[in-house]
Amino acid sequence: MANFHLLILVYFLQIVFSFLGFLMLLFQIIRRPFSFYKTKSRNVPPACLSDPSHGTHEYITANGIKFHCVSKGDPSKPLMLFVHGFPEFWFSWQYQLKEFCNDYRVVAIDMRGYGETDKPAGVRNYTIEILKEDIVQLIKVLSPDRKCILVAHDWGGVVSWRVVQNHPELFHKFIVMNCPHAKVYRRAITKGWKQTLKSWYIFFFQCPWIPEMLLAINDYAAFDDMFKKGLFLNKDFSDDMVEAFKYTFSPRRNLTPPINYYRCMFMSSNRKHSYSSQKIETPTLLIWGERDLALDMSLSDKKEYNDICTDITIKRIPGCSHFVQQDCPHLTNQHMREFLEQ
Ligand SMILES: *[C@@H]1O[C@H](CO)[C@@H](O)[C@H](O)[C@H]1NC(C)=O
Repeated sequence: MANFHLLILVYFLQIVFSFLGFLMLLFQIIRRPFSFYKTKSRNVPPACLSDPSHGTHEYITANGIKFHCVSKGDPSKPLMLFVHGFPEFWFSWQYQLKEFCNDYRVVAIDMRGYGETDKPAGVRNYTIEILKEDIVQLIKVLSPDRKCILVAHDWGGVVSWRVVQNHPELFHKFIVMNCPHAKVYRRAITKGWKQTLKSWYIFFFQCPWIPEMLLAINDYAAFDDMFKKGLFLNKDFSDDMVEAFKYTFSPRRNLTPPINYYRCMFMSSNRKHSYSSQKIETPTLLIWGERDLALDMSLSDKKEYNDICTDITIKRIPGCSHFVQQDCPHLTNQHMREFLEQ
């Protein structure tokens, strides 16, 4: 499809889905006219976040901003860097930090705009180029002399696929979860409506402030839906853990930088970014929770990666949601271990 037609389609979808999002917001307001705006004040982090067994909280300056990360394990061991998705933060990797801290120096970051990391203002501070450079610079600080293992999920994956493609020299192995390569995603969007409809929220996120309102309404009920109802297999996802997410994304202005990742996606400066046609030779593991509501399972078909990767292993986890590393930590860790020991 020509770029111009794609652009028209994008604008059309933005209008349609913004309208639908607005109706959803209106429905919520009508349902609870006297309490929809009420939120609990969250000044103290829930106990699960300050639990020292996760690791040590550290701050690292890279690419001009201050990053917050949680690290554990012997610093002389190889680095295993964890990059989370939307709307999450370092805590999404709690089960992996525990599992791999004896074999690696494990470090889970808060991405730019998230959690305790700096949150530069404006949409243009969240271009793919800047996000990519964040990861490259962090690795140069954390592991200046040797290759590392990169582990990424969702938006972290979007950025990491590109980092691995452009900087193969930095990586020993790459593990990515419920996130297709951009080329695979683009092919799916242009081929039919199925994936485009599942991506409705990306178009909705293009409008100002309404997405933030919808996520924060009824004291961040969206997070209960996402994590308490949305995680299909993990019965242990406690109220305290959902509180950790609500704490991180409140007050409501903390939702804006993460949503700005989506708002920046369609900006002209971002679209110009071209892909290296070089195949990815870094051994790659794609783990896929099959019951992902936002990403079609065909995005994890092996044949889709024939022209992208020379060495890819794909492991699908049946019955598991998009948040695969939290929903099915045991199987996820097992697949990771097998791949790392190969
Ligand atoms: C990026 O963030 C900085 C710091 O918040 C701000 O001064 C600058 O104007 C922002 N740049 C853009 C393009 O929005």
